[in-house]
Parts: sequence; structure tokens; C-alpha cells
Amino acid sequence: MPHVVVPPAVLARAAALIADGSRRLLGIAGSPGAGKSTFAAALAQALGDRAQLVPMDGFHLANRELARLGRAARKGAPDTFDVAGYVALLTRLRGTPDAAPTGPAAGPVYAPAFHREIEESIAGEIAVLPETSLVITEGNYLLLDQAPWSAVAPLLDECWFISVDADLRRQRLLARHQRYGRDRDAALRWMAQTDEPNARLIDASAVRADLTVAWDA
Ligand SMILES: Nc1ncnc2c1ncn2[C@@H]1O[C@H](COP(=O)(O)OP(=O)(O)OP(=O)(O)O)[C@@H](O)[C@H]1O
Ligand SMILES: [Mg+2]
Repeated sequence: MPHVVVPPAVLARAAALIADGSRRLLGIAGSPGAGKSTFAAALAQALGDRAQLVPMDGFHLANRELARLGRAARKGAPDTFDVAGYVALLTRLRGTPDAAPTGPAAGPVYAPAFHREIEESIAGEIAVLPETSLVITEGNYLLLDQAPWSAVAPLLDECWFISVDADLRRQRLLARHQRYGRDRDAALRWMAQTDEPNARLIDASAVRADLTVAWDA
């Protein structure tokens, strides 16, 4: 991960959200390669034990299921995630009355984690402890207003949008694709066919964010 600094005003806003110690959910949305995972990891690190990161990425459908559905070629598109599973987990993490009990007596709530090296998720890897105040969840589609994704935003106390110059975003995304094994042509093809259509959809959802975080630095 590059060395990055969370702007102090943004860090203060996250700390203020959990000032009374109760559980809050903060969403971080943005286009492919905008820096959501990098920003959210830095924010979680800065908050220490008070925060836990639960990326939306963990709810990628498995490659085998994508093949069965005929959607493997557009992995990362809105219909290639287990959205209902994600919504159910967020509901559980909020501790709403009809969800499993939370609080000091309850155990951890487990979330899956996506691994880019194998392009698959592993269940039960992320433990959200009862005493965790801030759950930070980051991903592409947190602010979409179309079903089933539209069920996500109402579960978040705030959702921020990571904004970055489009050329810089594409440069970083290309470099990351290449780092994970795609050659340049294959990476550019994937970006044109998959990432960029998704980016247009996501950028249009930015208007619903509570805060825009400029991430060009
Ligand atoms: N502030 C920064 N300075 C330099 N490089 C950065 C910065 N933020 C992110 N990057 C790099 O840009 C690339 C994309 O960032 P990241 O993976 O965090 O984006 P993302 O929004 O999570 O993307 P995706 O939607 O594909 O998961 C990564 O290689 C990351 O290391
Ligand atoms: Mg990411």
C-alpha cells in the first residue's frame, strides 16, 4: 500500500461519528481504482481499535458461480455480487432488533474478505468485535439508487465518495491490473469493457454522498 495520509478534517469527521462510543457504519464509495481500499485502510489504521474495515469486495460471487450464470467476463459489474448477503451483514452489524444480538455479550460478527491474488473471497476472515464502534465499508456500488443496491445506503450513517482525476485514476488502475498479472493490452481491454462502464454508473451516484474526499495527492 502506498504511504498515504488521511486529511485531518476527514479523520476528525470520522472520529466525531463515534464520539459517543455507539456503533456507526461509514460507507466509502468511488469508481474502480479511485483509491477506496487505500483510503479506507488508512482511515481504519488511524482510528486503531475503534474501527474495523469490512469491504464490499468480500461479496463478489465466486468464479464458479459467475461461470454458471454466464457473467464471468464482467466480474465486478453490479450483478456479480451477493448483494442480499451484503445487506444482511450490514443489517447485522447495525444491531437492529430483528438481527442477531449484538453488544458485549455477543461474539464477533464475521465477514468475508476478497483476495485479488486468487480473485476469490474467503469466508469468516474479518472479525467485527462487539466493542468496535466504527464499521467502515468500502466499495463501488454503495450509493447506487437501483435495486437491490439501493438497500445499502439507508443502512449507513454516512457515505463518502472518493473523487480523483479521471486520468490519474485510470493510470493507477492500469498499473494495479499489471501488478496482478495482466499484460498491458489485456488490462486496457478489461478497463474499456468492464471498469469504465462501471465507473460511469458509479460517478453518477456521487451526488448522494454526504462528503466528497479529494484523493489526487
Ligand atoms: N493516494 C495515492 N497515492 C498513490 N497511489 C495510490 C493512492 N491511492 C491509491 N493508490 C493506488 O492506486 C491503485 C488503486 O487504489 P485502490 O486499490 O485503493 O482503489 P479502489 O478504489 O479500491 O479500486 P477497486 O474499485 O478496483 O477496488 C492501487 O494500486 C493503490 O495502491
Ligand atoms: Mg478496492
